Amino acid sequence: MIGRLNHVAIAVRDLGAATAVYRDTLGAKVSLPQQEPTHGVTVVFVELPNTKIELLEPLGETSPIAKFLERNVDGGIHHVCYEVDDIIAARDRLVAKGARVLGSGEPRIGAHGKPVLFLHPKDFLGTLVELEQV
Ligand code: CO
Repeated sequence: MIGRLNHVAIAVRDLGAATAVYRDTLGAKVSLPQQEPTHGVTVVFVELPNTKIELLEPLGETSPIAKFLERNVDGGIHHVCYEVDDIIAARDRLVAKGARVLGSGEPRIGAHGKPVLFLHPKDFLGTLVELEQV
């Protein structure tokens, strides 16, 4: 059912410093920071030949990654995103198999302008999983 790895998201405290690590130390192509107020993050996209890395810095008081950074003071991998062809069919299959979808259970528009859903980490080996319809 799942297809390509769309991106790996890394939560960071200091987006400028994190961008410098990927751009200057690792020699990757990075985007300008992009504020996503509805998602509570500022994001920098790192373009790799086969996938993307998203560097996420909290934006606003209620950022969903603020708690993650309280538990992971140095930052860390926050979620992985897999592509699916049909997000509703994917959701229905996962729910039928007992997996928990976060939030309302309805897809919302993610940082790339495509429908996304998040799946409960406890059902996926301790890893928050995002599904994106492509
Ligand atoms: Co994501």
